Amino acid sequence: MGVLFHKLECSLDNMYVVRSGRYSRSDFYVLLLMTLQIVLQTVEGVWPLPRTITSSPERYPLSPQAFYFCYGRHSAAHKGCSVVDAAFRRYFSLIFPDHTSASGPLQFGASSPFTVEVNVSQDDCESHPAEDSSEKYYLSVTARQASLNADTVWGVLRGLETFSQLVYQDGFGSYFVNKTTIEDFPRFKYRGILLDTSRHYLPLRTIFKTLDAMAYSKFNVFHWHIVDDPSFPYQSYSFPDLSKKGAFHPMTHVYTQSDVRRVISYARLWGIRVLPEFDSPSHTKSWGKGQSDLLTPCYRGGGPSGSFGPVNPALPSTYQFMARLFKEVSSVFPDSYIHLGGDEVDFSCWRSNPDIRAFMKKMGFGADFNKLEAFYIDNIVKIISALNKTSIVWQDVFDYHVGRASLSVVEVWKEGCYHCEVYRVTKAGLRVILASPWYLDQPGPTHNWARYYTVWPLAFGGTEQQNKLVIGGEVCMWGEYVDATNLSPRLWPRASAAAERLWSNERQTSSVDEAFPRLLDFRCKLLRRGIQAEPLQVGHCSHEYQGT
Ligand SMILES: *[C@@H]1O[C@H](CO)[C@@H](O)[C@H](O)[C@H]1NC(C)=O
Ligand SMILES: *[C@@H]1O[C@H](CO)[C@@H](O)[C@H](O)[C@H]1NC(C)=O
Repeated sequence: MGVLFHKLECSLDNMYVVRSGRYSRSDFYVLLLMTLQIVLQTVEGVWPLPRTITSSPERYPLSPQAFYFCYGRHSAAHKGCSVVDAAFRRYFSLIFPDHTSASGPLQFGASSPFTVEVNVSQDDCESHPAEDSSEKYYLSVTARQASLNADTVWGVLRGLETFSQLVYQDGFGSYFVNKTTIEDFPRFKYRGILLDTSRHYLPLRTIFKTLDAMAYSKFNVFHWHIVDDPSFPYQSYSFPDLSKKGAFHPMTHVYTQSDVRRVISYARLWGIRVLPEFDSPSHTKSWGKGQSDLLTPCYRGGGPSGSFGPVNPALPSTYQFMARLFKEVSSVFPDSYIHLGGDEVDFSCWRSNPDIRAFMKKMGFGADFNKLEAFYIDNIVKIISALNKTSIVWQDVFDYHVGRASLSVVEVWKEGCYHCEVYRVTKAGLRVILASPWYLDQPGPTHNWARYYTVWPLAFGGTEQQNKLVIGGEVCMWGEYVDATNLSPRLWPRASAAAERLWSNERQTSSVDEAFPRLLDFRCKLLRRGIQAEPLQVGHCSHEYQGT
């Protein structure tokens, strides 16, 4: 072993060797049987498409027995860097998916070593991915070696994903990579997926699996719509009754503090931010079960009707509760963003309540309930700012809010002319996340994936200054009819269409016809990696995934 290392750039200290078992003689016969059945595989591209990619027909054989990752001599991150070490382990099995299976193909004569050398200029191994983290990387594949240069470990992750997609197998199951040069960085810095864990509880393994698949498409934000009307699964240490009384089940259908930490650290190792949403004043029915006097009692015929409406904005105790809850949330979730929701507030309950009406009068709001909502949101935004976090709100808050000064990021979600809304929000100098065209919870035939692909977030006709305020987009997977049984096929590969839109250069990716073969191939890669992605057309995948 040691002899080989002398020829390589990487020093022994920095070498990261991922090994697994060798093949036995019986594997060899299984292989012979298999090769008779495998059809020749065509060579594919990378999804999402890199900014610039130059590849050539010169191809190099790779052998799992002689494949190494290592840190370059001048790299700021070294062996022991949690993010990169974990990525080396993961990508070894993603690059050689057959290698650990009993029927994996044997390599014939392809034993010259191949090394992927990683060079990072910042030592940010123990940090969390953040709003302004660079994801840029430069990848060069030549004979026996690939060099991957990046500013940050997050760039390394994106580059390793790309490298893993460049590796392909021929009809005999042998692995190859072609001579390639890539320079790549994302078009939008915010590329999110929203999961809703209130309407249906999603087990941790389902969340982890989604994070895996997100990284394969280079998504970088998990927007966790963690609570809503139907259930409150977040187990708060400040207010344990919220989940005890508000979750579907207080033991089995909750996210404990340790669960949340696991999700955050799992996501971090994929370079994915975890952005929590605690939506109020509406969408809070489940909150009321564990926190009395939080919701507004609705009135009918002169007395309380027994039902409850949105959070009660007239009581000082409401803001004390919110300040404590968000203080907790801001320390549990390291991300600089917190989503406040603020959508779909129904004023009828507030209107029915005499105490609310008296409060409105005292405050001089007249009969304008938008002013009451604005008063509420302003108070919550102040709480968030005092915690040094950036607040995101749904577009309703922007549309009906009287004083917009305190807002910073607006998520556009309504149907209709979303471009008009993007125009208005950016005109007001606020940042935008676009979600309207990517509501994938609505089932549609997979073959209409192109409608998610042909969206262009900057098609709203704004100025250069306005364009800069569009920080990205988000796929929303609301949970009314989605749980662990159908989440994956409903997301994938349709969400990948949005992912390319958010990562790649729009000029290079304007053709649906050119994208289609690459997406077909990418869907096969997802299957191979154990992601239950729906079919896009009649056909089959070579090297079909056989697992569960
Ligand atoms: C990779 O190399 C093979 C064999 O020379 C060639 O057929 C194929 O077109 C190449 N792929 C790319 C993307 O250049
Ligand atoms: C390492 O990466 C940095 C930043 O990407 C680059 O400037 C430098 O040339 C690289 N060093 C080597 C040896 O490739």
